[in-house]
Amino acid sequence: MLRVRVPLTGGSVDRSYDVVVGYGAINQLESLVPDGTKRIAVVTQEGIPSGWALPTFDVETYFIGRGESSKSLATIETLTRGFAEQGITRHDLIVGVGGGMVTDVAGFAAASWHRGTPVVHVATTMLGMVDAAIGGKTGVNLPEGKNLVGAYWQPSGVVCDLSALSTLPPRETRCGLGEMAKYNFLTGDDLLSMDLEQRIARCIEIKVEIVAADEREGGRRALLNYGHTLAHALEIASGYQLAHGEAVAIGLIYAAELAFELGRVEQARVDEHRRVVGEEYGLMATPPAGVDIDELVRLMRRDKKALNGLTFALDGPDGVEVVNDVDEVAVRTALARFVQ
Ligand code: GLY
Repeated sequence: MLRVRVPLTGGSVDRSYDVVVGYGAINQLESLVPDGTKRIAVVTQEGIPSGWALPTFDVETYFIGRGESSKSLATIETLTRGFAEQGITRHDLIVGVGGGMVTDVAGFAAASWHRGTPVVHVATTMLGMVDAAIGGKTGVNLPEGKNLVGAYWQPSGVVCDLSALSTLPPRETRCGLGEMAKYNFLTGDDLLSMDLEQRIARCIEIKVEIVAADEREGGRRALLNYGHTLAHALEIASGYQLAHGEAVAIGLIYAAELAFELGRVEQARVDEHRRVVGEEYGLMATPPAGVDIDELVRLMRRDKKALNGLTFALDGPDGVEVVNDVDEVAVRTALARFVQ
């Protein structure tokens, strides 16, 4: 069992917390419950394994719907009205058990309830473990777009029990691998030589180092969006037929192609991206046929990172960095080479 410390000591209170990673990590859940907790509101979905108990607390379980349409303000209203009925106070605890959608919703409900109630995440998917449950981004969708309403609200602890991964549907596994593949390009770590427990823990450490340096995404945290500019556009352009992690896998290759087009990296680095994403992780490395380049460019201009023009996290001689105002001709040329 590994414990990764998230050091968040800036501000008036120490908000540091532990992420417990390993087979059977769920048995450490009780150790993450803050002192003084009496009631616990568990937020989860039907079908998510729940072979654990917290017998010394007054526990109520709230099930939320599946799919992006349930990641909504209506779900937050239903949950918080439940918390009111249960009598959850600011000294109690919300526990989010599930993938990224559940922990985003549970985290936002916790951030909002009584203007901030502790939350512990139990991530049951690989994407949740290496990304969504870590770092305090929470939120819900509006009909106008994904994750438009939210808050930064750090958990009091996170559990990543690797036993949960064995029952994941293949598509969910692919999504996690897409997000995990990203970390292979952010540092010089040889993640592929590590076993799963070490690799997940190291991905978490890489994310934690970035979040600790830039919690509110003033700069460096945007590196975690490596591969995401095209990925978000592809998700929308495909009508969400491509899931997030699948789109990230394709976006990683595109980011390398674009960096090559801009003279930031050699062809060998592009080939390495293709090898890692396509061969090592076995993920799709080209966009589905028929996507429209004009639409992708229009959608990429709307990316949240882009304050002006086209903005990408791109590899280069000093590693991955955020590059603003990228030349549209280069963006189109790299896309044309890439889109069938
Ligand atoms: N998922 C990117 C971040 O947490 O900043």
